[in-house]
Amino acid sequence: MTLSLDDRQRAMLAEMGIRLFEPLPAAAPAATGTSAAPAATSTSAASGAPGRSAAAAASAASSASTQAVHSGAAPTPATSPTPPIPPIPRPAPPSGRLPASAPATLGPPPSGIEALDWDGLEQAVSGCQACGLCQGRRQTVFGVGDRQADWMIVGEAPGEQEDLRGEPFVGNAGQLLDSMLKAVGLDRGHRVYIANVIKCRPPGNRNPEPSEVAQCEPFLRRQIALVQPRIILAMGRFAVQSLLATQEPIGKLRGRLHQYEGVPVVVTYHPAYLLRNLPDKAKAWADLCLALDQFPSTEPGREPSIPT
Ligand code: URA
Repeated sequence: MTLSLDDRQRAMLAEMGIRLFEPLPAAAPAATGTSAAPAATSTSAASGAPGRSAAAAASAASSASTQAVHSGAAPTPATSPTPPIPPIPRPAPPSGRLPASAPATLGPPPSGIEALDWDGLEQAVSGCQACGLCQGRRQTVFGVGDRQADWMIVGEAPGEQEDLRGEPFVGNAGQLLDSMLKAVGLDRGHRVYIANVIKCRPPGNRNPEPSEVAQCEPFLRRQIALVQPRIILAMGRFAVQSLLATQEPIGKLRGRLHQYEGVPVVVTYHPAYLLRNLPDKAKAWADLCLALDQFPSTEPGREPSIPT
């Protein structure tokens, strides 16, 4: 009796560490001319390609062992039993960035967010899989700054730099924000807390979808509740829409005070927009002054100075 394995099955078995007891060369059957490329096949088995091929190989392995034992072509020494079949390799769990086409395995947003403390909230954010953005992120971007600040800055969503560093507003727009804050006597480690509406980077920096904003919004809500700021600066359309539940354009909302859960809100342009529209920096400065009128940012003796 001879083995009925083709080259592909042999390569898979070899990759899985299963030795076959071959007939002696003289008794070997003529080549059958099967053309499957063993190297390619074994790569696929080694990488954990799931499903039929691996299962078929395992079943072929068991049948091959049986055939080898009964073939009589090569005596099986009693002292060298057939090696056990190793477990079929599984695909590696997802890590890092998945292709955009990867199927979503999303869960509901974590429940009980409104009762979480800072540590619990940070953990809930970093493990969140409530929308598809979790599949493209390197890491979540929680927030930064003084957790007992009087001032809170709310931006939109992380970009590439923020996704890399895990901190909001660290790219070009962040540099402008830093100089705006400096102009009113604030810096990101002192008397101000900075967070985004969205905690994961949208692919290619696209605008967040309404469903993504809705899923993420409870995290921001809880951050605001924990910080208890005295003034909120809402920067850009998505921050404004999320906090004020309005579709009105920023141009129509700026220049007056709004409220979020009893906290005064000043609406202003997003720093990334200001980088593209320099003349509107003057309006953003007026917005900062409106916020300052509402709540001073500086210690006595330090005067705000207009940014260049
Ligand atoms: N834009 C935002 O709104 N937030 C960031 O963190 C970076 C850019």
